[in-house]
Amino acid sequence: MSSKGLSQWQRSAARYLTGGMSSSFRANQFTGEPMYAVSAGGPRFRDVTGKEYIDFFMCHGAVLLGHDQPAVKQAVIQSLEKGFYAGLDSEDTIEFARKVCEAVPAAEQIRFVNSGSEGTLLALRLARGHSGRDLIVRIDGHFHGGHDYLLANNLAAKVDYDNEGRGFSRVIGRTAGVPELLDSLAVTVPWNNLGVLEKALREHGDRIAGIIMNVIDYNNGCFLTSVDYLSGVRDLADKHNVVLIFDEVLSGFKTGLSCGQGYYGVTPDICVLGKALTNDVPLCVVAGSTKIMQKIMDPVDPVIAGGTFSGNQLGIAAGNAVLEILAQPDFYPTFLHRARTFYEQLQSLIDSYSFPAWVQGLGAGFHVFVGTREPVLSYADLARVDREMTKRFFRTCIEKGLYFHTDFTVSAAHDEATLGAALERFEDVITSVLSSAV
Ligand SMILES: Cc1ncc(COP(=O)(O)O)c(C=O)c1O
Repeated sequence: MSSKGLSQWQRSAARYLTGGMSSSFRANQFTGEPMYAVSAGGPRFRDVTGKEYIDFFMCHGAVLLGHDQPAVKQAVIQSLEKGFYAGLDSEDTIEFARKVCEAVPAAEQIRFVNSGSEGTLLALRLARGHSGRDLIVRIDGHFHGGHDYLLANNLAAKVDYDNEGRGFSRVIGRTAGVPELLDSLAVTVPWNNLGVLEKALREHGDRIAGIIMNVIDYNNGCFLTSVDYLSGVRDLADKHNVVLIFDEVLSGFKTGLSCGQGYYGVTPDICVLGKALTNDVPLCVVAGSTKIMQKIMDPVDPVIAGGTFSGNQLGIAAGNAVLEILAQPDFYPTFLHRARTFYEQLQSLIDSYSFPAWVQGLGAGFHVFVGTREPVLSYADLARVDREMTKRFFRTCIEKGLYFHTDFTVSAAHDEATLGAALERFEDVITSVLSSAV
């Protein structure tokens, strides 16, 4: 335990660690500052000053079973004790690949990578290698990781709000260091709009390799699509012979074992899985039809897919333990019922104080939009959110021991007692924000 305050830790971290953090996505969006943890267990963690929080950040939504989950920890320890070799596959690798293929509709075959960004990068390369075309259609506002191809327009803050839904979106927020040249390799279209997607395919179809989208958008809050839209996308992709990619790095396993694609009943050609797949141990999966995945093994002109730590044994061990738990018949019904009840209870609490906030949740992911009492269904609806009050609300949450950053998550370790304790703290937050507004 340290006698230093959090701000002193932030200052000393920034001396050697650029910005005081290992990832620029780690600066808390409400406080502007990174957080430092000393330990984590179940639904809670302790920061460097010894303060304990009920965690709704759960490592960017990667921890579905709770921190330090005993079975996952045991599997990783066993792998360490037996003497693991990251650079060679094992029986456990094959077993995990089988489990993923049995669970996820798009997965006829898979390859392991280490991060979601690496996964979406390989998915794009597979679409291009398979089709022999270069253009990618992507969705305005969807996040796919930190590689150059999809960094512009990657969050609701970088959506082209001038696009009224009849044409393609302009490039917004290409960050420093990303070549302008890459703009010509993507066509950006609004989400849940089949007309503009059809226009993209009609005008550029013979140059389009693939379409990439998130099936459930938890990156910007909790934004949903529909079976009709996804079925329409599937039909258009088939008609134009274009590879359909679902990025399920964040949505995977949040609504069930078959992921967002199983929830909506629409199967892509390729999907990318990560985060919850291994409950906080680095490992991701690119999965797809055998025909497309076999382009990796093309004897003449293969898609290159490989890396020193691809399929590292610690991630494999964790993933095997995770999928064993998720496949238990009572896991999802119990867990998702508890999460849904919590969202309803939180909304009732908010309403009982006539506090202006809307809770929107699906599966293990949710969001609290502050400043509105109506559903927030599109990125344009975000204009109803009160940004100042949002900051005040979540800063007060953090002060009172409820940790929020991005990707709001309820894990299976958030039991009734924890969620009950969280609701008491939320009540304290609401009264505090209301009294400070007077
Ligand atoms: C939808 C989505 N795709 C891709 C990524 C990138 O994953 P990683 O951070 O493991 O590179 C993320 C990360 O937040 C994500 O939410």
